[in-house]
Amino acid sequence: MKICVMAGDGIGPEIVEQALRVLKAPALGLQASFTEAAVGGAGYRAEGHPLPVSSLKAARDADAILFGAVGDFSLDTLPRELRPEQAILGLRKELNLFANFRPAIVYPELVDASSLKPEVVAGLDILIIRELTGDIYFGQPRGIHVRSDGVREGFDTMRYSVPEIERVAHVAFQAAQKRNRRLCSVDKANVLDTMQLWREVVIAVGQQYPDVELSHLYVDNAAMQLLKNPKQFDVMVTGNMFGDILSDEASMLTGSIGMLPSASLNENNFGLYEPIHGSAPDIAGKNIANPLATILSAAMMLRYSFGNADAADKIEAAVKRVLANGVRTGDIATAGAPVVGTREMGDAVLAALH
Ligand code: IPM
Ligand code: MG
Repeated sequence: MKICVMAGDGIGPEIVEQALRVLKAPALGLQASFTEAAVGGAGYRAEGHPLPVSSLKAARDADAILFGAVGDFSLDTLPRELRPEQAILGLRKELNLFANFRPAIVYPELVDASSLKPEVVAGLDILIIRELTGDIYFGQPRGIHVRSDGVREGFDTMRYSVPEIERVAHVAFQAAQKRNRRLCSVDKANVLDTMQLWREVVIAVGQQYPDVELSHLYVDNAAMQLLKNPKQFDVMVTGNMFGDILSDEASMLTGSIGMLPSASLNENNFGLYEPIHGSAPDIAGKNIANPLATILSAAMMLRYSFGNADAADKIEAAVKRVLANGVRTGDIATAGAPVVGTREMGDAVLAALH
């Protein structure tokens, strides 16, 4: 297993360090080699670009990527193509990582960490599949210009082609087949032409999956339903921008955005694995960030890219034990309860790994 490690910015290095300790744990017995590559603000500082050519090459040469987070407020005034976020956007596009899996699971021990009532979230297990290489994130034209009347104007373009919708729809239907066979497609077909096409294509692809119950929601309603009755969902599939927003929302059902891992896959199951949270520069270097989303992302890597369900199960079981033992970082602790740091959470997972 050749793993490219891209820790990135902010809390990225601290949380990735804990995930690496887990991947290297003797209890897992993995044969892996690790190559580090600079990305984001770290890439810009080292090589003048958020996704240096050498880092992209290291990613291509690897079997999978473990990614921390990118984002650095001090670089936000750079031209867009040099901002840290371009590292992750560039990797997704260059490596064709169009299918983004964002599971949101409520662990019984964390039911009280959610800001929603326990009965609303207890037992929740949903999978959001976000299209990751199209939509308004990448659509052209885009820009900020001065109109002929002298007014400055910004514009972006929402675009989806039929093949782009089809391929992510197939991934979503197949994921639903492995779960509870319910798929909810989220769009804005009532207003946007792109999304009308999205709905048409998802329905057409659905003909090939008669065993999956397909439903549709407009994104505003989906956002509301996620808070009102999240357990109605099994798998959700949606475009890039709506998926960005809904997955952050879903993370809060689980108690903390510090708990949600993700996998971004191409059609050959080559994948990039990252927590869904960002670089959190305000808490960087303080040993307080929750490393569990990154550790769980490493488990997803073993499961999806390396077909090692056994090792993935072990990591996930260790995380459950740690939570059952009451070990909490600040983001998942109940008010006033004792908390541990990033490294200590890593220690606890290692100790629970067998
Ligand atoms: C995410 C993040 C990214 C996104 C940012 C960092 C570009 O919010 O992975 O959800 O918008 O996709
Ligand atoms: Mg996001």
